Amino acid sequence: MRFSIAVLFLFVHFSCIAAYDPLDPNGNITIKWDVMSWTPDGYVAVVTMNNFQIYRHIMSPGWTLGWTWAKKEVIWSMVGSQTTEQGDCSKFKGNIPHCCKKDPTVVDLLPGVPYNQQISNCCKGGVLAAWGQDPQASVSSFQISVGQAGTTNKTVKLPKNFTLLGPGPGYTCGPAKIVPPTNFLTSDRRRKTQALMTWNVTCTYSQFLARKHPSCCVSFSSFYNETITPCPECACGCENKNKCIKSDSKLLSVVGVNTPRKDKAPLLQCTHHMCPVRIHWHVKVNYKDYWRAKIAITNFNYRMNYTQWTLVVQHPNLNNVTQVFSFDYKPLLPYGSINDTGMFYGMKFYNDLLMEAGPFGNLQSEVLLQKDINTFTLKQGWAFPRKVYFNGDECMLPPPDSYPFLPNSAHTSQAFIAISILSSVILFLTLIC
Ligand SMILES: *[C@@H]1O[C@H](CO)[C@@H](O)[C@H](O)[C@H]1NC(C)=O
Ligand SMILES: *[C@@H]1O[C@H](CO)[C@@H](O)[C@H](O)[C@H]1NC(C)=O
Ligand SMILES: *[C@@H]1O[C@H](CO)[C@@H](O)[C@H](O)[C@H]1NC(C)=O
Ligand SMILES: *[C@@H]1O[C@H](CO)[C@@H](O)[C@H](O)[C@H]1NC(C)=O
Ligand SMILES: *[C@@H]1O[C@H](CO)[C@@H](O)[C@H](O)[C@H]1NC(C)=O
Ligand SMILES: *[C@@H]1O[C@H](CO)[C@@H](O)[C@H](O)[C@H]1NC(C)=O
Ligand SMILES: *[C@@H]1O[C@H](CO)[C@@H](O)[C@H](O)[C@H]1NC(C)=O
Ligand SMILES: *[C@@H]1O[C@H](CO)[C@@H](O)[C@H](O)[C@H]1NC(C)=O
Repeated sequence: MRFSIAVLFLFVHFSCIAAYDPLDPNGNITIKWDVMSWTPDGYVAVVTMNNFQIYRHIMSPGWTLGWTWAKKEVIWSMVGSQTTEQGDCSKFKGNIPHCCKKDPTVVDLLPGVPYNQQISNCCKGGVLAAWGQDPQASVSSFQISVGQAGTTNKTVKLPKNFTLLGPGPGYTCGPAKIVPPTNFLTSDRRRKTQALMTWNVTCTYSQFLARKHPSCCVSFSSFYNETITPCPECACGCENKNKCIKSDSKLLSVVGVNTPRKDKAPLLQCTHHMCPVRIHWHVKVNYKDYWRAKIAITNFNYRMNYTQWTLVVQHPNLNNVTQVFSFDYKPLLPYGSINDTGMFYGMKFYNDLLMEAGPFGNLQSEVLLQKDINTFTLKQGWAFPRKVYFNGDECMLPPPDSYPFLPNSAHTSQAFIAISILSSVILFLTLIC
């Protein structure tokens, strides 16, 4: 049984490694170029990045966008963003381009740049909110003036080989495709104009590309069994175990210990799981018609605050959420009708910031669910979530045979759990392959 499960998992990893998130099957980041005018030697375009992912955002230090020019294009100027390097512009006299590189790398400007360097939706330090959390903040734009390019829609060559860091690896971008020109409404909404030419690029995320190990883990407890099921040992990889710091270490009182590094290297509290984030799910109360679970999120990274965090949970009873205390909640319907997934996130200005590790580095909520008499049970780990994602990355769950058992149900459950894993793997395969 274990062997066949392992074979199936390997099959999932290798055959379906393409970026695909079963809980957000249409999630992507779309980059759209609208050519707004032709110039004597090229064009001016507005580039708009839309994050259509429901629960995955791009955190500080923000996105980095790259591409390769198809011909000898140069960037004369940019508004609302900049390239990180100018490259070799020694061929130019008089007017020097903003960037002459064949493969420019573009980053957003920081908030508060002078007004004449801004356009709408720019200058947010590259931070893009998740679409399900804050659609208005899930878009980023800049303007680019391209020279030595085509000057008609027949002669323009589309840039190639797009790359997106968000901020780390994980995204894969497809080729640019010409799409119907975008329509724009004037601000009084009385006149419609359209782009001279539009192309789109779609980028999708894959956790396998982003990192070798998970970045969060899950632990369980219940009112009916005093065992706490911890996160799996080394759930997030133990390579850096020698660099972690004990929670009672004197080093923690040194000034600057929390200062983020340029390379975003974490400073983790020493734990047996070595995860930067742990989600704890506690089955708290069993009422007659309802039951209640408590969720706690703990940050173990001394050098990181998580802004606009999201937590996605899959559990068959989430179709009957009655009340969520102190977090915002939104049901997700990845397959239209299967209403078993939901997104929790912080309330604006109240708990949308998960503070660095330490006394304030945790957040809590409780969920009240109405029982469906046909499915509800405390047996066989049913009350625990099937999948958990923090900030769009799937968290490692404890092995099913370690879940807190209802007294006297331990023996039937092993076989049941093995069968249920097998069937969920098969379901997963049929859904994605
Ligand atoms: C990108 O996401 C949008 C919104 O979910 C969807 O309509 C579109 O089909 C997606 N594009 C691709 C290429 O998957
Ligand atoms: C192109 O991207 C925009 C968002 O940037 C999206 O609204 C539009 O549907 C996309 N067009 C196609 C044909 O994918
Ligand atoms: C290019 O412009 C012509 C009209 O000038 C239009 O008919 C054609 O559809 C355009 N092609 C593209 C790819 O936008
Ligand atoms: C595409 O970009 C990547 C990373 O920037 C680079 O390694 C690769 O060689 C490029 N491919 C082409 C065909 O330019
Ligand atoms: C986290 O936010 C608090 C409050 O804004 C700030 O004092 C602290 O320096 C931040 N920590 C990190 C690691 O950025
Ligand atoms: C999904 O469940 C939520 C409760 O969690 C409910 O408010 C919503 O109406 C349900 N949606 C559908 C389509 O069943
Ligand atoms: C639970 O939700 C489903 C679908 O959202 C609904 O059909 C069912 O009646 C609900 N059950 C209870 C006990 O509210
Ligand atoms: C509590 O659950 C554990 C499994 O995590 C099990 O070994 C133990 O027997 C259970 N305790 C009781 C009192 O049933």
